[in-house]
Amino acid sequence: MKALVYGGPGQKSWTDVPDPKIQNPSDVIVKVETTTICGTDLHILKGDVPAVTKGRILGHEGVGTITETGSSVTGLKVGDRVIISCIKSCGHCANCKTGLYSHCMGEEGQSGIGWVFGHLIDGTQAEYVRVPYAENSLHLLPEGVSDEQAVMLSDILPTGFEIGVQYGRVKPGDTVAVVGAGPVGLAAIATAGLYGAATIIAIDLDANRLEKSREFGATDVVLSGDADWKDQVMVLTDGQGVDVAIEAVGIPATFSMCTDIVRPGGNVANVGVHGKSVELHVEDLWIRNINISMGLVNANTTPMLLKLVAQDKVPADKFATHHFNFDQFMDAYDTFARAAETKALKVVITA
Ligand SMILES: NC(=O)c1ccc[n+]([C@@H]2O[C@H](COP(=O)([O-])OP(=O)(O)OC[C@H]3O[C@@H](n4cnc5c(N)ncnc54)[C@H](O)[C@@H]3O)[C@@H](O)[C@H]2O)c1
Ligand SMILES: [Zn+2]
Ligand SMILES: [Zn+2]
Repeated sequence: MKALVYGGPGQKSWTDVPDPKIQNPSDVIVKVETTTICGTDLHILKGDVPAVTKGRILGHEGVGTITETGSSVTGLKVGDRVIISCIKSCGHCANCKTGLYSHCMGEEGQSGIGWVFGHLIDGTQAEYVRVPYAENSLHLLPEGVSDEQAVMLSDILPTGFEIGVQYGRVKPGDTVAVVGAGPVGLAAIATAGLYGAATIIAIDLDANRLEKSREFGATDVVLSGDADWKDQVMVLTDGQGVDVAIEAVGIPATFSMCTDIVRPGGNVANVGVHGKSVELHVEDLWIRNINISMGLVNANTTPMLLKLVAQDKVPADKFATHHFNFDQFMDAYDTFARAAETKALKVVITA
């Protein structure tokens, strides 16, 4: 089969590799029909994720059809159409039992690490992929949900919702600011309304992304390049600050922006993956009663979000901006890597 293979920092190719085989009784093989590229894949290609070794097939998002099932799989069958979760879940360990799939202790990849696809085991940017713990790590795709909608449920929608909105404890009437209107920030914007956010302020350096954020539910936008960006946020909140500030970039400056605009007693939900250490000013924050949360997505809300996508209550169809087929995989990466120029949000790649 063909797959997108990592060849070390800066190196990748769409090339021939052996087909995956069932290795454990709970595995299935999925023929990938639709996949996409995540910002994390770009981090891997820069060499920022050293656990990814040369020869690894990248990708942790995908939709496809089951072509083979392991001997213990009873709840899925050949021909079933499925969404592949970015997080493995054995379903049996203590962490899986509490919904903390991000720390599944199943041995696959590495015990305690839920994100294994395109990281510690071969991923979804391929014609076929082996899915471990298939009954817990796959979701049947209902009729009426397109592949293009469904592939947003592998990673970005649960990430924005769980680590942004749920961890941020958004409640009815809240004013929520989302710093970073990339796919993950937009996913938080698109799902903040599920808990009744009244005002949703998108904050980004990129005017195009801010314009786009209105389609996902942002009620107000602030260009963070403006010298008075913070005053603009304060005017929108009667000088109080926001109830919840969601960080969806992953750099120290945007974490500080969140702690600067949150009101006393408010929540800062960090979603971004940080490569550099971030200063935490406990000496200022304690007296403002600020709560801070962070985490790796569990993807335990994917079945619930899937129902809402099926009812058009979450705009999953709005993320895809560019379409490619598998033999244009390298072009898809190029377009996604130059998102500021190409205005790409999610690039969808189909077989
Ligand atoms: N916690 C998790 O489980 C999890 C899962 C997936 C992704 N992530 C992380 O979420 C973050 C967002 O992912 P994404 O794919 O949307 O990223 P992205 O790079 O596509 O989007 C980031 C956005 O931030 C904006 N930005 C950059 N600097 C800014 C600044 N100073 N002020 C305001 N906006 C600024 C950019 O213009 C861009 O629109 C990344 O750090 C990613 O690694 C976390
Ligand atoms: Zn991802
Ligand atoms: Zn587990």
